[in-house]
Amino acid sequence: MNNMRHKKPLLVLLIMATVFFICNTTESPAITEGDPQKALEAFATISKVLRSPRCINCHPSDNVPRVGDDSHEHLFGVVRGAADHNGPVQKCATCHQNENNAYTRIPGAPHWGLAPIGMGWQGLSDAQLGQTLLDTSRNGNRSPEALVEHMSHDALVLWAWDPGEGRTPPPVPLDEFRAALQTWLENGATVPE
Ligand code: HEC
Ligand code: HEC
Repeated sequence: MNNMRHKKPLLVLLIMATVFFICNTTESPAITEGDPQKALEAFATISKVLRSPRCINCHPSDNVPRVGDDSHEHLFGVVRGAADHNGPVQKCATCHQNENNAYTRIPGAPHWGLAPIGMGWQGLSDAQLGQTLLDTSRNGNRSPEALVEHMSHDALVLWAWDPGEGRTPPPVPLDEFRAALQTWLENGATVPE
């Protein structure tokens, strides 16, 4: 009995430490200096995702969306067009709905469109990919925080992990991708030279 009484404060301390830990790890992201090496390792994980067909197919370096795991050119003469949402007759949303269509096999997610040409990632080296990503004149004027926010929650990004039958999700699980984004941010958002 006596023994138990001595252990109680320890237990309370343990619970407090756990609560503190949980609160701290769910804080909103902010860029901090940290360890650049850790940021580079995290970026290697991030770039694996960005290079996957699920992202690249909408981030080509030309005007044609790509399709499938082999990234072949989109059928029906679909091209970038005005405002990256195709010509006046065939909008992307004419065919692409807010969710995948299991019958027609047309993939779908809200605000389906082609990423602006400045966000084309096809054929870039790791260093070029990093620079393009961070270049505010090309990335929609996004800070590293805003980039991480976008890549953690945007509907088109999330679609990649639920792409419909016959399409392979990115090679990194979504929770690992999000963790890598956090680590990258917390260690200065460094990219390869
Ligand atoms: C259906 C097409 C589509 C898919 C799939 C897609 N994107 Fe995008 N992406 C876009 C469009 C359109 C924009 C521009 C909209 C904006 O700026 O909000 C964009 C913008 C971005 C941006 C901000 C711009 C930049 O270059 O800094 C990032 C980062 C991004 N996408 C990451 C991804 C990642 C990571 C994936 C895959 C997991 C992905 N996207 C999949 C269409 C797509
Ligand atoms: C006439 C209908 C039609 C229009 C318009 C259209 N698409 Fe598609 N799209 C399809 C079909 C059908 C598929 C599925 C093809 C398949 O999986 O073999 C597809 C697939 C895709 C994929 C492949 C996703 C992946 O990773 O495999 C992307 C990316 C895409 N479309 C982007 C666009 C963009 C961007 C626009 C507008 C600029 C657009 N599409 C306009 C019918 C259309």
